[in-house]
Amino acid sequence: MKNYLKSMPNEEGFFGKYGGAFIPPQLEKPFAEITEAYNIISNSSSFIDELRSIRKHFQGRPTPVYYAERISKMVGGAQIYFKREDLNHTGAHKLNHCMGEGLLAKFMGKKKLIAETGAGQHGVALATAAAFFGLECEIHMGEVDIAKESPNVSRMKLLGATVVPVTHGLKTLKEAVDSAFEAYLKDYENSIYCIGSVVGPHPFPALVRDFQRVVGVEAREQFIDMTGELPDAVLACVGGGSNAIGLFSAFLDDSVKMYGVEPLGRGTEPGEHSATMTYGKEGIIHGFKCYLLQDENGEPAPVYSCASGLDYPGTGPEHCYLKDEKRIEYVVINDKEAMDAFFKTSRNEGIIPALESAHAVAYAMKLAKEMKSGSILLNLSGRGDKDLDYVIENWGYGE
Ligand SMILES: Cc1ncc(COP(=O)(O)O)c(C=O)c1O
Repeated sequence: MKNYLKSMPNEEGFFGKYGGAFIPPQLEKPFAEITEAYNIISNSSSFIDELRSIRKHFQGRPTPVYYAERISKMVGGAQIYFKREDLNHTGAHKLNHCMGEGLLAKFMGKKKLIAETGAGQHGVALATAAAFFGLECEIHMGEVDIAKESPNVSRMKLLGATVVPVTHGLKTLKEAVDSAFEAYLKDYENSIYCIGSVVGPHPFPALVRDFQRVVGVEAREQFIDMTGELPDAVLACVGGGSNAIGLFSAFLDDSVKMYGVEPLGRGTEPGEHSATMTYGKEGIIHGFKCYLLQDENGEPAPVYSCASGLDYPGTGPEHCYLKDEKRIEYVVINDKEAMDAFFKTSRNEGIIPALESAHAVAYAMKLAKEMKSGSILLNLSGRGDKDLDYVIENWGYGE
């Protein structure tokens, strides 16, 4: 896939037939301004230097790659390694793009950052970026997720953000995006909508990918330093797809297998899962074209996962393109398997993973057995402190 990153997306923001910018006319100019500003700063050495310095001194990058020896031995087969994004400041990969988005807002002279959040990790990361850059911050969050992820709600408020509860529909991530878009429509002169994944209208899928690429670039070098070779497989959980594309984008030219892990929730029935790439078909949501879980009227279908950051009916357009190109395979893990991995990672490695990341660990455990030998590198996208109340109430402390 030579020159892939330079040529994808095209100028209109398409990855093959996916992506683009399907937005109301009044947003065309603001989005064109964001694209132009991003093109300027991403080619500016002072911007790149500032971001590098933030990554090192504020975020604590590089995060380590860790050999999960006890889990590997317990499973038998391939050796499993974690890229420790749980150790990135604020506890997940989300800060990687939020600090970039904050710098972009500063460059554009915007006063306020607006976004949605599911698990609360993007909200916390954006509130952190707003505090760092001295900006206002408004986070839209479904009421169901507010109840489920209450530590992150407190963190956002402590960091100075306004949390707007979203009370319509399923009261989860999709409705939070609807609500944040509406707020942005009313205030686009003053503010910037900082989307929380590689989704939304152009340029966000490309911009968020570029900011997340640091994960893959670091991990590739660290893995080679540790083992003298490339991993045989890399994998990551996929909600919108930002932690996955961050890792995968550094391995596209290598002969390394890649797996995106989707949530199968409570089962294959519509409404019981959020396995977009597996069960979705082409459609438009939130201003971009992608695989989409749809109801009989072609509207985004209700979705579910125990992991609030994974229950979104669409997926980033680049994932859709790479699936069709057969470069990435998409697989599923249900709630029970994710919970099992959550407890095993906690007990055996001393790492409490985010429920989202536990989906990646669960698939790595399956794959390691199948592979029998070789190595797997997964993105441990975040830590699970936010999930503790929900897990203990619903699943206890494991066996
Ligand atoms: C820890 C963690 N991992 C993964 C995700 C899923 O998002 P994405 O697919 O964009 O990486 C989230 C979303 O909130 C998250 O908090």
